[in-house]
Amino acid sequence: MTTDPAPAESSSTQVRPADGPSDQASPHTPDVAGHWIAIVAVPPGEDAEVVAAHLWQAGALGLRDRGRELEAWFERGPDGSDPTEAVPGIGTDVAWRFEPTVDHLEAWRRSATPVAAGLIDIVPHHHAGVHDTAPGRHRILLDPGQAFGSGHHATTAGCLDAMADADLAGRSVLDVGTGTGVLAMAAVLQGGDPVVGVDTDPEAVSVAGRNAADNDLHLDLRVGSVSDVDGHWDVVLANLLTHTLVALAGDLHAATAPGGLLIASGVGTPRAGTVADALATAGYVDVDVRTHGDWVVLIARRPRDGTDGTG
Ligand SMILES: C[S@@+](CC[C@H](N)C(=O)[O-])C[C@H]1O[C@@H](n2cnc3c(N)ncnc32)[C@H](O)[C@@H]1O
Repeated sequence: MTTDPAPAESSSTQVRPADGPSDQASPHTPDVAGHWIAIVAVPPGEDAEVVAAHLWQAGALGLRDRGRELEAWFERGPDGSDPTEAVPGIGTDVAWRFEPTVDHLEAWRRSATPVAAGLIDIVPHHHAGVHDTAPGRHRILLDPGQAFGSGHHATTAGCLDAMADADLAGRSVLDVGTGTGVLAMAAVLQGGDPVVGVDTDPEAVSVAGRNAADNDLHLDLRVGSVSDVDGHWDVVLANLLTHTLVALAGDLHAATAPGGLLIASGVGTPRAGTVADALATAGYVDVDVRTHGDWVVLIARRPRDGTDGTG
């Protein structure tokens, strides 16, 4: 196991030997090897040393001091758990990004195989010339770069399956947490119009832009989240994480057009009830929970205001 995951050399970077690999899968560990990087702002009046101590305690493999900001990297999340769960003592106010080990990313690029989900065949570039897409299906050429969404993860595939059951033709689609842009591109190919993708990670937005260009698809991509986009959307896609979905449930509902659909994932089966409850509390109805291996996809509807008694 590597103990040298530092993104870049720095005199203030500290590395310690890892405590040993956790065999617990991280919900959003992409299908390439790498590390999770937590970027933590040191709160005003707080001592950076105290924050650093919490990060070491939580299992950080290394720390980089950037003044009032600390970068900590983890092989998994704190204590081997979901990497974007709260860090004990720090709370949830942590920005996370996944940084693949470059060699593994290259290896993925060489060895990845096409994957079919819903109406979409996701095809790595090196298969472009040899892959045949059957009539009625769509092809997306994809290079995940440093973003999540190669199509091989059950949450992405589950969302694509749910999208296949939704009529997207001529409907507006907002993809919150677009990653590689895979769901947003699928929405365009299924007739969604307009389709907007947002992600808090600027690198993901760049990757999604490159993927859209490679597929000659128009995507409106923005750095930000659901609250940064105005209007109501017929279909809202949100492959995020449990605590993000719970935190954003009200905003997602506000962004969903009356009568519109939410397709959400990023939720392990044990937490399905937590998210279903949060969606119902936010005002969604008909919450349908579909299991995909260890993961679930939740499909919910915003009532048509005044027409079904709940809007
Ligand atoms: C699990 S990936 C999903 C990628 C892709 N949509 C898919 O289904 O494969 C989640 C993405 O959400 C982004 N993200 C995390 N929190 C977010 C938030 N509050 N608002 C918008 N994007 C967020 C992450 O940067 C990441 O790219």
